[in-house]
Amino acid sequence: MLSTPILLDYQSSTPCSKDVVDSMKPFWSEIFSNPASKSNLAGINASAVLEASREKIEQNLFLKNKKVIFTSGATESNNLALLGFARNFYKNTGNYGHIITLKTEHKAVLEPLNQLKKEGFMVTEINPEKDGLISEEQFKKNIREDTFLVSVMLANNEIGVIQPIENISKICKSRGITFHSDFAQCLGYMVLDNLLSDVNMITISSHKIYGPKGIGLLLIDEEINLEPLIVGGGQEYGLRSGTLPLPLVVGFAKAIEIAVLNQKNNAEKLLFHRNNLLEGLLKNNSGLLINGSIEKRLPHNLNLTVLDLNGAKFHKLLKSKIICSSGSACSNGEPSHVLLALGRSFKEAESSIRLSIGLSTNAKDIKEAINILTNTIRSLR
Ligand SMILES: Cc1ncc(COP(=O)(O)O)c(C=O)c1O
Repeated sequence: MLSTPILLDYQSSTPCSKDVVDSMKPFWSEIFSNPASKSNLAGINASAVLEASREKIEQNLFLKNKKVIFTSGATESNNLALLGFARNFYKNTGNYGHIITLKTEHKAVLEPLNQLKKEGFMVTEINPEKDGLISEEQFKKNIREDTFLVSVMLANNEIGVIQPIENISKICKSRGITFHSDFAQCLGYMVLDNLLSDVNMITISSHKIYGPKGIGLLLIDEEINLEPLIVGGGQEYGLRSGTLPLPLVVGFAKAIEIAVLNQKNNAEKLLFHRNNLLEGLLKNNSGLLINGSIEKRLPHNLNLTVLDLNGAKFHKLLKSKIICSSGSACSNGEPSHVLLALGRSFKEAESSIRLSIGLSTNAKDIKEAINILTNTIRSLR
């Protein structure tokens, strides 16, 4: 009988936690009215639940002077922030200004920026250093007189590195540049503290933090204006029309509450397993390269290049035993743009692996994963 594969792909998505599922239950068939229907009592009740969820999020994240806008997920939040801000900038100034980002951003940032390039804006994609991080000098060098928008993610989804966004935010503030950051991989895994107030526009996703899929957040400074991408009934401050999915809103607010409450303990537990996994793999195998800084990194991420073997065969053999991401994840089978930006070759990117640990991963999983990976590597060399 085939055993169940070990799940080490929690950065791709997480299961909805039981408490989150329970919190959503009344809002499917009992309290189901449209929160925008404020002319009747049922709609008013639904609207109260929506606003209470928004307030709960504001309180749990200690938000000050930020609008909390619900979206369908981090992809939409990034699109709304970047397209919405740039188009509004053009509308007000008549100028196509300059935008800075990183080559290693998620496609949900790079593709809207490609769209803006087609519309006339200028975009610089900075290539980070070999450890995946950008330096203050490197960032400053790329700022131009007409730079009006910067988008740099807090933590990378493939290699887990944590960018120095506190410094970036300070530089942006001193030059009057608006700063957007994709936090999709961060909430619940690292201390955010002042970062939430330092950054002008922040993207958050629910399904990365044991919340339901299909909902996300864009947090923006109160004074920021965006051109909406979806128009209609004027929901979400007129920035994102459409009836909101109340069960998902409630579940997401619950997931945020739990993530913040348990952040410290969870991060310690994840780091313990991640470090054991790395140690075991390095002890048993030669020719492993760690992709990205190991110090400035999310606690649940490991990304390795396995030298001297065929990447396609490696991933094919692993498929039934470990659920993980290959160096060609998220890019239609093409080698990862993140690993290429770090200087890895096509071949090296193809024989790379992202292992991401979850809250239900245990010591036995880690031990088995080390054995499976080691045996697979040996069989292919
Ligand atoms: C950094 C980052 N941004 C954006 C996304 C897209 O998120 P969603 O699935 O919520 O649209 C992901 C998901 O993989 C991500 O890791």
